[in-house]
Amino acid sequence: MKPIELAKNVYWVGAIDWLTRDFHGYSTNRGTTYNAYLIIDEKVTLIDTVKKPYRNELMHHIRSIIDPAKIDYIVVNHVEMDHSGSLPEVVKEINPEKIICSKMGQKALLKHFHQEDWPYHVVSPGEELSLGEKTLSFLETRMLHWPDSMFTYVKEDQILFSSDAFGEHLATSERFDDEVNLDVLMHESTKYYANILTLYSPLVKKLLAKVAEMDLPIKMIAPDHGVVWRSHIDKILEAYGRWCVHEGKGNALIIYDTMWDSTRLMAKGIAEGLQEQGIPYKMINLQVNHRSDVMTDVLEASAIILGCPTLNNGMLPRMAGFLMYMRGLRPTNKIGVAFGSYGWSGEAVKLMNKAMTEMKFTICHPGLKVQYVPEETDLTECIQLGNTIGKTLQDFLAGKEINSVEDII
Ligand code: FEO
Repeated sequence: MKPIELAKNVYWVGAIDWLTRDFHGYSTNRGTTYNAYLIIDEKVTLIDTVKKPYRNELMHHIRSIIDPAKIDYIVVNHVEMDHSGSLPEVVKEINPEKIICSKMGQKALLKHFHQEDWPYHVVSPGEELSLGEKTLSFLETRMLHWPDSMFTYVKEDQILFSSDAFGEHLATSERFDDEVNLDVLMHESTKYYANILTLYSPLVKKLLAKVAEMDLPIKMIAPDHGVVWRSHIDKILEAYGRWCVHEGKGNALIIYDTMWDSTRLMAKGIAEGLQEQGIPYKMINLQVNHRSDVMTDVLEASAIILGCPTLNNGMLPRMAGFLMYMRGLRPTNKIGVAFGSYGWSGEAVKLMNKAMTEMKFTICHPGLKVQYVPEETDLTECIQLGNTIGKTLQDFLAGKEINSVEDII
């Protein structure tokens, strides 16, 4: 892969990781990229670096454009190791005049690499820095998604280097949004938001409002993962506007695990009831779906229906693990219902209800339990539950007030 020129004297010099399939618990089935960018000006500037094993690829790309020793500044938009793992070796090789970062970025760099004598240059939000012909300005994006995170904007070229935001895990030989399949791109962008940014949605909302207020002309958004947005900027901004309020599409997810098939039979009954109400739904068995793919669906769903039998006075481990993951990401603005089979104690439904209550889902039914194996009357009750959820969801989507059930089982 050769460096790609984004604008005159602005190059992509990053690395493509075709191999990775796990990103701290998030399945990256299409690999990823670690994007870094080089600006040639009176002050030659490198924006971000790459994960440690990809240092040679980065340096090779830089060398094909300029002698790395000529780089004056390194901008660190984000300290997480996928963008800074190679930094110590890169700093040693380049010996830059400045390492530009946010105040929290300096703290994080010190805690990661313990280098007191690096030439840190801390920038304040809104600060500008001339490189000669081009000017950088810096936008603090604290907690999107780390305390150190910031964006860098090149005024003359109208390029926003957005760090993790607007990125996606997608290894591809193409570098721009209009060169890849748009459905794949939007799916991977949804998955990225769902698994990395959902928890920080209130901050995303504020950031989008701030960027709109600043009225920044943006020709390109260049994130640190995936492709550069140039033709579909409106589309990704519109999607972020929806995702940051966790807007559902009117559909329901039945997310379940099953032991001896009873909970699956209950799930089928609920699905039949949803169908009768004309609600689009998806059955998601946790035995065959990765939690990060499930979260991708959760982000854009309106009703979350959780099913799990009771095991050892608790839930099956896959449901417990999924709930821990989902609670960490805190999706909101959903209707929730729990169901499951049990043998003698039956705590799983209560535990799932508790988790959804903590996430402030609107619980629209106390929950449904069936002992051992459902018979005809139980399955009829499941169908009725599907109908109830469907009707409540229609009211929810119409903006009617739905009170959460207090008396959950
Ligand atoms: Fe791509 Fe937060 O690192």
